[in-house]
Amino acid sequence: MPETAELAERFEATLAADQRIEPRDWMPEGYRTTLIRQIAQHAHSEVIGMQPEGNWISRAPSLKRKAILVAKVQDEAGHGLYLYSAAETLGVSRAELTDLLHDGQQKYSSIFNYPTLTWADVGAIGWLVDGAAITNQIPLCRCSYGPYARAMVRVCKEESFHQRQGYEILYTLSHGSSRQKAMAQDALDRWYWPSLMMFGPPDAESTHSARSMAWRIKRLSNDELRQRFVDMIVPQAEALGLTLPDPQLTWNAERGHYDHGPIDWEEFTRVLRGHGPCNAARMEHKRRAHAEGAWVRDAAVAYAAKRSVEAVSVA
Ligand SMILES: [Fe+2]
Ligand SMILES: [Fe+2]
Repeated sequence: MPETAELAERFEATLAADQRIEPRDWMPEGYRTTLIRQIAQHAHSEVIGMQPEGNWISRAPSLKRKAILVAKVQDEAGHGLYLYSAAETLGVSRAELTDLLHDGQQKYSSIFNYPTLTWADVGAIGWLVDGAAITNQIPLCRCSYGPYARAMVRVCKEESFHQRQGYEILYTLSHGSSRQKAMAQDALDRWYWPSLMMFGPPDAESTHSARSMAWRIKRLSNDELRQRFVDMIVPQAEALGLTLPDPQLTWNAERGHYDHGPIDWEEFTRVLRGHGPCNAARMEHKRRAHAEGAWVRDAAVAYAAKRSVEAVSVA
């Protein structure tokens, strides 16, 4: 059995060579707990994120829109499952992580604490929220932890479909009647700033960033990712014929990027601490759905037990 120092050296050498850490490899406890926290928060976000859009499945404006939205929301459930499975390779169970979420000890992305007031919100979520998610997740495909990185490859492919469908909803509305266009603009006005907050606090105030970058879990800083996102959506908003609600948004030729106005970090903190418009409703719905699904979990366990008895008796 090699000494810890030797194992730690091997771990650092794997990172330095830009190779992957796999579940059976030795890893520092901090690396493991950081990953569990991040992957669990990501998984919870996928699952809670089904609520704001699920709210519109029964009210989608056409059969085609409904079918697309059902597929999208189901994809998010799938993302949650891949991510819980990735977290389980680190020695925790999905049931434990679910309990931590329900007890308020783990978080999900604050963006899902905002309400979906109109059909245009489904478009704004797809374009901006899934767009911000892709921006965040593309670098995660190169994350140092193998199971997380591999899960991200498929998730990103599905996210680009999500972004495309949101953009297309907004395009249709913004090229429709003046009321439809106003509805699209109103949704954009409400979702734009929260989507910028999705990248987390500014680099100078981000507590976990430096460590995560050294461990190659995170490849780009919060501010770098936010900048990429803004640079991507400005021309897209122009093509939509909609206005991003930031009068200070200007092209900075020197930097080769768009400069944006100040973000309201007080709002971010308020929502993060549980005082957003929908925090209580989201968690209440989640706990209720979990309780109502108990019979499904019990049935699955009973079925698995019966199968294993049958397998033993056949053998
Ligand atoms: Fe997703
Ligand atoms: Fe998505």
